[in-house]
Amino acid sequence: MTATEDVASALPVAAFTDAMSRLVSGLAVVTTRQAGGQPCGLLVSSICSYSVAPPSVLVVLDHASRCRDPLARCAEFGVHVLGSDEERTARTFASRGADKFAGVGWEWDGAVPRLCAAPIYLRCTAKAVFDHGDHTVLIGEVTRTAVAEAEPLVCYRRQFDWGLRRNGVRHP
Ligand SMILES: Cc1cc2nc3c(=O)[nH]c(=O)nc-3n(C[C@H](O)[C@H](O)[C@H](O)COP(=O)(O)O)c2cc1C
Repeated sequence: MTATEDVASALPVAAFTDAMSRLVSGLAVVTTRQAGGQPCGLLVSSICSYSVAPPSVLVVLDHASRCRDPLARCAEFGVHVLGSDEERTARTFASRGADKFAGVGWEWDGAVPRLCAAPIYLRCTAKAVFDHGDHTVLIGEVTRTAVAEAEPLVCYRRQFDWGLRRNGVRHP
């Protein structure tokens, strides 16, 4: 193993983002309803389980994202963990397209736009929002789950088309 080291006091952004790109993560689309009634959503890798009692998740939003304000102000939002056959959906919601919802199957679940094909769906009530640096942390209490068996879409070293099985990471 070869290693490079950078000291925190002068840490270049590239060193930080390179280090974090080596953290394997799942990918999820986070959605909500905007004040005008339209759905909005973005792709995130910064999502994790936050607490069990109450059941909560934590999502991190870039201030530059157009979805940041609607999500920071919403009462409810949806989290859709994507399956390995949903690369196209991932790329769509990672873009700044005008209507990301045009090519995907979705429906309203109350005030939450729900992507029908996502294998894991969490409906969340927004409970806490705070800013740190150039990002916002959103914590939501999970009020509903729907889970189907599927291989996950996995992000590693800026590639988000890692299928666990086809890369030999997991064998059935
Ligand atoms: C693999 C990957 C992971 C991402 N993770 C996040 C994330 O955790 N939080 C975030 O705010 N943006 C994340 N993004 C960027 C947003 O998906 C992207 O900026 C998107 O265009 C935002 O859409 P919006 O401007 O319509 O809100 C990620 C993008 C990719 C490709």
